[in-house]
Amino acid sequence: MQIIDGKKLAREIKEELRQKTAEMVAAGHRPPHLAAVLVGNDGASQTYVNSKVKSCERIGFRSTLIRRDEDLSEAELLEIVDQLNRDDEVDGFIVQLPLPAHINEDRITMAIDPRKDVDGFHPANIGKMTLGMEAFLPATPYGIITMLERYGIRTSGLNCTVVGRSNIVGRPMSILMSRNAEPGNATTTLCHSRTRDLREECRRADILIVALGRPEFITADYVKEGAIVIDVGIHRVPDAESEKGYVIKGDVKFDEVAPKCSYITPVPGGVGAMTVTALLMNTFDAAQKRIEK
Ligand code: GUN
Repeated sequence: MQIIDGKKLAREIKEELRQKTAEMVAAGHRPPHLAAVLVGNDGASQTYVNSKVKSCERIGFRSTLIRRDEDLSEAELLEIVDQLNRDDEVDGFIVQLPLPAHINEDRITMAIDPRKDVDGFHPANIGKMTLGMEAFLPATPYGIITMLERYGIRTSGLNCTVVGRSNIVGRPMSILMSRNAEPGNATTTLCHSRTRDLREECRRADILIVALGRPEFITADYVKEGAIVIDVGIHRVPDAESEKGYVIKGDVKFDEVAPKCSYITPVPGGVGAMTVTALLMNTFDAAQKRIEK
């Protein structure tokens, strides 16, 4: 059993990006610039956005954080998006989700210039990804694909089961795993809350990618001997014995599943560590395209 060390891989890729950014600047160009829009005070969103901004600084990117109160109107947010679309100093930007209930997320996503959509959420990017054309890939699936690639894990012809059909993880992941490329070319099944026999679908998987959002749901009896298990879940589970009062757990019951696997991603230090890195890779590519133009 080999642990896929997302933290170490993320560190390596960020170092590569730092070097490429230094070369970009030495050649007389400005560094890549990511902007992030955060509306309201959701704790998890603040943590994610801070981590994105901090990572930019560490590798020499420029970053801008635009914070607005919960009561921002949809029209005001559309105005911010429009300004970022037109700002030649910004290569890519994200609007952190979830947004307050009075703002239509689809309308905001649709307003983002696909060339600056480094989250890969715009239908133009999802469509291009689906057709196998060059596109910004959503951060979590891109992070997972990169892990498989860098660990030299061959996926062609294998059975892959993806659990969870969210627009930002499960569905794009299923598209990437079934595409005609490596990683990809897997016989892919997408499972969700209406799947009749989830355990059996999981047990057939040579590659099991879990993004269902329930702590330690996937136990050893869901996993085939020798499977590759990718755990996208991240949960704070109350734990009286830990100093913080909680421990971080994934969707997979690691201790009993890991011994059955050929490869497994830990939580923390697996997929989560790669997600911000994937966003940085997209932002670097957006800057590169600006220079080539
Ligand atoms: N909320 C949870 N994940 C993401 C993400 O990758 N991008 C944005 N914009 N919002 C999120």
